Amino acid sequence: MSLVDLFGRVHTNLRISVTDRCNIRCFYCMPETNVQFMDRSELLTFEEITRFVRVAVPLGLRKIRLTGGEPLVRRNLDQLVAQIAGIEGIEDIGLTTNGLLLAEQAHALYAAGLRRLNVSLDALDPQKFEQITRRRGYEQVREGLKVAQQVGFSPIKINSVAIRGLSEDQLIPFGHFARETGIEVRFIEFMPLDADGGWRRDQVLSAREIVETLSRGIQPLLPVPNADPHAPATEYRFADGVGCIGVIASVTQPFCRQCDRFRITADGKLRNCLFSHEETDVRALLRNGGEDAQIAQAIRDSILAKGEGHEISSERFVQPNRPMYSIGG
Ligand code: GTP
Ligand code: 5AD
Ligand code: SF4
Repeated sequence: MSLVDLFGRVHTNLRISVTDRCNIRCFYCMPETNVQFMDRSELLTFEEITRFVRVAVPLGLRKIRLTGGEPLVRRNLDQLVAQIAGIEGIEDIGLTTNGLLLAEQAHALYAAGLRRLNVSLDALDPQKFEQITRRRGYEQVREGLKVAQQVGFSPIKINSVAIRGLSEDQLIPFGHFARETGIEVRFIEFMPLDADGGWRRDQVLSAREIVETLSRGIQPLLPVPNADPHAPATEYRFADGVGCIGVIASVTQPFCRQCDRFRITADGKLRNCLFSHEETDVRALLRNGGEDAQIAQAIRDSILAKGEGHEISSERFVQPNRPMYSIGG
């Protein structure tokens, strides 16, 4: 069985947000102060999450990505990884983290079965890191990356949100970083999912400009055929074969037509799109005696209600009322 929507897209990829809390305050995601976090009692328990996954596997779910907030602030996350890794039919588990707690948790996560790691890092210097995240921690993230490499995670990718007026001077250093470390660096176009509603189109540094800057400043970037047609990133390699760069052009070249994703928030709301305005309360089913068949039906209904794509570039666009930290990225 598969989760096909009205546009023929098959959904195999679930992103599970395990908390909305975070230990930094990236301006493109969170408000600086007075964040209203979910109450702990609102969060799905690990048992509720794994039950949900078990129900979704027969519908065609194959890939999981754990997100936050910052997923590593959720206590004992390695135990959830182990529980999900034990579910037959799950072929792939990844984690998207800001890396601050990675040095201390990398071993346990690896032992639990995690292999794929995406680490968010928007700057390669401490001052700019602080300007964007409004917290200290640059060295700690670098240390986390180092430990993760030593432990054996593969692939490790960097996610770097590119913002006009802030990121231009980071592009070339990141290009060299990709060449020196062998870690793929992916630049993400800034999307209107910030908590303050401050996004402006002219702040989007486009994928095209990023590729041009790196090609001019280091070496020509040549496109690499993508093994996964659903991957949001377009991948490139420098002409001499050293260093991999990805661009996620969510704003200028939306990949909605290839989308294979659905999401569940930390408080158990099913979302069929980052930008959707409607969600399904699965927690109510999970907590109040709902049967597996009802949960499965809720998933199918949510996928059938999925829209064609986001309308960031249209006059009609309305930013969803959940900012990124409470959706999970
Ligand atoms: P892998 O392909 O398994 O490495 O994972 P991924 O690229 O999906 O994971 P990651 O969480 O690192 O996603 C990278 C970024 O792409 C996210 O942080 C978002 O900014 C963006 N993104 C992910 N999924 C979507 C989506 O469904 N729609 C849009 N517009 N952007 C997305
Ligand atoms: N636009 C683009 N990417 C974003 N992220 C968070 N907020 C935004 C935004 N407004 C990215 C983070 C992280 C992932 C979870 O989502 O950098 O890599
Ligand atoms: Fe935290 Fe990630 Fe949001 Fe930054 S983007 S504030 S690291 S949840």
